[in-house]
Amino acid sequence: AGGATHNQAAHAHVGHSGRSVDALTADPARPPDVALTLTARQERFALASGRKVRGYTLNGQSPGPVIRATAGQLVQVTLINESVPDGVALHWHGVDVPNAADGVAGVTQDAVGLGRTHTYRFVVDPGTYWYHSHQVSHAQVVGGMLGALVVSPDPADTLALVHVYDGIRTVNGQEGDVRVPAAPGQRVRVRIVNTDNGRMSAWVSGAPFTLVAIDGTDVHGPTEVRDVAVPVTAGARADLSISMPADGGGVRVHLGGSAALLLGAGAPAVPKPAAELDPLGYGTPAALAFDPERADRRFEYDIGRRPGFLDGKPGLWWSINGHLYPDVPMFTVAEGDVVRMRIANHSGEAHPMHLHGHHALVLSRDGRSATGSPWWVDSLDVGNGESYDIAFVADNPGIWMDHCHNLPHAGEGLTAHLMYE
Ligand code: C2O
Ligand code: CU
Repeated sequence: AGGATHNQAAHAHVGHSGRSVDALTADPARPPDVALTLTARQERFALASGRKVRGYTLNGQSPGPVIRATAGQLVQVTLINESVPDGVALHWHGVDVPNAADGVAGVTQDAVGLGRTHTYRFVVDPGTYWYHSHQVSHAQVVGGMLGALVVSPDPADTLALVHVYDGIRTVNGQEGDVRVPAAPGQRVRVRIVNTDNGRMSAWVSGAPFTLVAIDGTDVHGPTEVRDVAVPVTAGARADLSISMPADGGGVRVHLGGSAALLLGAGAPAVPKPAAELDPLGYGTPAALAFDPERADRRFEYDIGRRPGFLDGKPGLWWSINGHLYPDVPMFTVAEGDVVRMRIANHSGEAHPMHLHGHHALVLSRDGRSATGSPWWVDSLDVGNGESYDIAFVADNPGIWMDHCHNLPHAGEGLTAHLMYE
């Protein structure tokens, strides 16, 4: 899903990747290029530091194995539930999978019960993604049932998956500074994945850097920056390209709290820069494969907070247009529609909104239009008082979730569905 790919869709499907659902699904007879089995357990396990936590593992580890593939490959994952009493389902966050492989328990499949298995098959676009449970997700994702999925021909890039276990902030499952060797003058691509419920800021000391991809999509014409923080909302990814100093100096990539990745010999910690990079004006514009002004459908999400009953419990809950999930009307689209959406937030807190199965183009925030690279997202931080206009092409039929990725919020009303007629 690079900057170039969304210009080349000459056929009927003119969305993010310009590929058809048939291409995402692949012929059932096609053998997978990448095949693996993930066995889910609920257990006590040790972090890399040796500290024991209670949670969820895949193949005995958390984070689960890093899945690596290259563009266009068919990935096949067989999930086995060995010991998770509540059942499991795996969602491929940011991957525009065919609907049947989306892994949403209760919507696209039943939760996989104890002793049962389920197989996912999908074709991948280049980029940084992650996978996680979509069953009782506020407990299972927080408890560690997750992992990274990297689609790139370059095995030398560096992953920085940030997760919080029992209040302990980790990078790739490790506490404290994580050291990665890097030679002077070498260019290192750091793929940051924020699996936490909160927004984080990433910044770099010891070298300038370039933000080369957001949510798996390349930025068009990115420029090198320094002394700015990069916001990475819950569920989102940011790829930084860092060129190691020629003099052998190290680089520290700050990943929120005290978590950091040290490249080379390491570098001193510096406080968070006051300036924050704004993707709305970063990079240079590029032609799009669709006209967002066409707007075959327009929707508005007004996120608020209101008293009501949810699952029979009285409380103050998050609402969409005054409704609490599951009482939120479905947003219906037809295949091929250009969909415009305004997301306004008057709820008193920020919400990282995540749309499944599609990437959306950010058009404006608070009425200020995007001036930089086409900014494609699957996870968008909508701050309190903010309003975003986004657009996407309805090119992936099915029933898709659109919810807050601060996962407790998703269970407290802030969930909607997009449905194809
Ligand atoms: Cu990453 Cu519906 O979630
Ligand atoms: Cu929220």
